[in-house]
Amino acid sequence: MNNFKTPASWEVDHLTSNEDWVFTITETEKQRLSALIKSAYEEGRDLFDYLPDEFDFGSSWKTIAKAVSEAHHGKGLAIIKGLPREDLSYEEFKLLSWAIGLRVGVARPQGLASHYISAVRNIGTNYRAANGRGYSSNAKLDFHVDVADLTALTCYNKAKSGGQSMISSGVTAQNYLIKERPDLAEIAYQYFYFSRQDEQASDEKPFYSLPLFEEDNGNLFCNWNRNRVQSAQKFEGVIKLSAAQIETMDVLDEILRRPELMYTMYLEPGDMQILNNYTMFHSRTEYIDFENESDKRCLYRLWLAPPDSIKLPESWRGFYRSVEPATVRGGIRGLSYNKACSDFDKKQAKFLNMKIDSRPYKN
Ligand SMILES: [Fe+2]
Repeated sequence: MNNFKTPASWEVDHLTSNEDWVFTITETEKQRLSALIKSAYEEGRDLFDYLPDEFDFGSSWKTIAKAVSEAHHGKGLAIIKGLPREDLSYEEFKLLSWAIGLRVGVARPQGLASHYISAVRNIGTNYRAANGRGYSSNAKLDFHVDVADLTALTCYNKAKSGGQSMISSGVTAQNYLIKERPDLAEIAYQYFYFSRQDEQASDEKPFYSLPLFEEDNGNLFCNWNRNRVQSAQKFEGVIKLSAAQIETMDVLDEILRRPELMYTMYLEPGDMQILNNYTMFHSRTEYIDFENESDKRCLYRLWLAPPDSIKLPESWRGFYRSVEPATVRGGIRGLSYNKACSDFDKKQAKFLNMKIDSRPYKN
């Protein structure tokens, strides 16, 4: 257990005093991007069929790439502002998010239906149910990580009220936990069980185990999701949480929510938020939608495996299926992962010069 002083070990005042993690697309670039997407968009065409080479981002790519790098290798968080929104339809805006993803990494499946891009909107899901997922509910979410190296969340519509995005650095939280409660930090370095929320693929158990914090090769890897830890308690073979583990969870959540550690923001239409999921924990508040269907909160979410990823600790294999650097890893395969999905993964891996870990998976 070590104190980690890295760009990702920020506190709120670091973010507010230096906005070098906020990137803005110029007005000219925005118009160019809008025209690019309008000309590339073909109604009914499968997203898997679009090729990265079809999208020439011009000078805006420099800005986007810098944001990705800041999120991946720097502060763990970046925002791109000013993406075209007003004159793009839902589908065109979705294609814009997808096209950025095609060049950033290999998109990963995100749930039971193995969808590679999700519309984050309220369809009435119960987040606390055994198979509950936050992205399709309007509930307040626990601090958590997503199941991929990077998450890119692009805002089409914001909510009428609420839906505030919260980000807290897992690295900073770990440092505080070590300083204030070394006894609990030791527990956080031990294994916890996490439910797969009934979305396991046929070769996966319904749960996986991982420490909340782990050092590997000089890097700190952070992982947290209270909802999934609680859901896992019902499974046979999962050891019941001890009082000390529960206290660790409570203290960690309390640290994450301290005003000096928790950065809050509203995503505006045309914003893309990019997060590193092994250094940042994220959450959002409950929200209320507008009445009108076309005004309801809608974000497009990508989970991405970038080509310059670093090695993960061995313990993450059950979570990401592969821990090797520069491999196509992460995602929730679910039950509809088919040939079209594996062909897409291979095509993208080839384009980005990445490897696919094809060894049989053992949970
Ligand atoms: Fe999430």
